[in-house]
Amino acid sequence: MSGYRVGVLGATGAVGSTVLRVLTERGFPVDELVPLASERSAGRRLEFAGGEVECLALSEESIQGLDIVISSAGGAISAEWAPRLIAAGAVVVDNTSFWRMHDDVPLVVSEVNPEAADSHRGLVANPNCSTMQMVVALKPIFDAVGIERLVISTYQSVSGTGQRAIEELRAQSSAVLAGDTPRPEVYPHPIAFNVLPHVETFKDGDDYTTEERKMMAETRKILGAGEDLGISATCVRVPVYGAHSESVNVQTREPLDPDACRELLSGAPGVVVLDKPADGVYPTATEVSGRDEVYVGRIRRDPSHERCLNVWIVGDNLRKGAATNAVQIAEQLHARGLVGTRTAA
Ligand SMILES: NC(=O)c1ccc[n+]([C@@H]2O[C@H](COP(=O)([O-])OP(=O)(O)OC[C@H]3O[C@@H](n4cnc5c(N)ncnc54)[C@H](OP(=O)(O)O)[C@@H]3O)[C@@H](O)[C@H]2O)c1
Repeated sequence: MSGYRVGVLGATGAVGSTVLRVLTERGFPVDELVPLASERSAGRRLEFAGGEVECLALSEESIQGLDIVISSAGGAISAEWAPRLIAAGAVVVDNTSFWRMHDDVPLVVSEVNPEAADSHRGLVANPNCSTMQMVVALKPIFDAVGIERLVISTYQSVSGTGQRAIEELRAQSSAVLAGDTPRPEVYPHPIAFNVLPHVETFKDGDDYTTEERKMMAETRKILGAGEDLGISATCVRVPVYGAHSESVNVQTREPLDPDACRELLSGAPGVVVLDKPADGVYPTATEVSGRDEVYVGRIRRDPSHERCLNVWIVGDNLRKGAATNAVQIAEQLHARGLVGTRTAA
């Protein structure tokens, strides 16, 4: 055996299909790839490593003998199936929100807190996509001068909602251009040519969405910060296919000028600084789509506060925001001998 039996749960989805590509691109040691999805997808042929693999329906039988599973089939599936996968001998890297805030589950961004994965008890959680890209860019600032407060506005692509939302934007755009009024299905309002201040759900009477709450809670957990890190987030869905953009107002504990911030971020792992705005040089969603790094630009002083900077952060939500980080976690588990009993040669 030269590698692992790798399961990709949710293999037909927006994240899962990206996981299949990233595993190949990064040369993860896969001995056998087992794509898993719902009954609907059983028998579907999926591209993998220059060939095809047959998708299996998720079942007690299909999960046997897997060493590692990258799971992206929604929170309810992870809640039920992660314990079963672990019991069957797999380590689970979970892309859903279900396990992220459990005390005994490490929430890992490979450039930020890789050591947290060492304590895993069968499952490592992959953070929310908008949180993920933001903390990659903020970690160097947090370490150098501390962060007191973050005020965040996001501009999130439809691929963050999954395959159906990508199709909805395409269909609605054609409908609007043809002079029709589209009927929304995935979102509460049409997304084509529109901007929705509503990402995920308003739960239990909360006036913040679940996405906004995730950004606040997960950021603190990943950075190892407490409630003394103030965070306010407004998450917005925009008619963009791929990559989330974020405007972040960063209030540091010690002063940091824009040049020093640029220098700090230029040398940071997984970060690219693109910041000559007068020449039109700043990150945009279409340029960043398909890339693994997090891009930062428009670094400037907030004129209303001496210890505040404004930054513009863009990352591909399906890659660094989900699949790439999940595969990076798998690589770390492999490198540290944490994949379980059927260790690769
Ligand atoms: N999209 C992002 O940018 C992003 C980023 C980070 C995390 N996430 C999280 O990743 C998860 C997947 O998101 P996505 O955007 O890839 O969604 P998606 O495109 O809708 O894909 C969902 C996947 O789950 C599978 N699935 C659904 N019901 C299932 C069942 N009963 N049993 C087995 N598989 C089932 C689907 O299989 P079928 O094709 O057979 O229905 C499909 O492969 C979500 O929890 C999401 O919150 C997404």
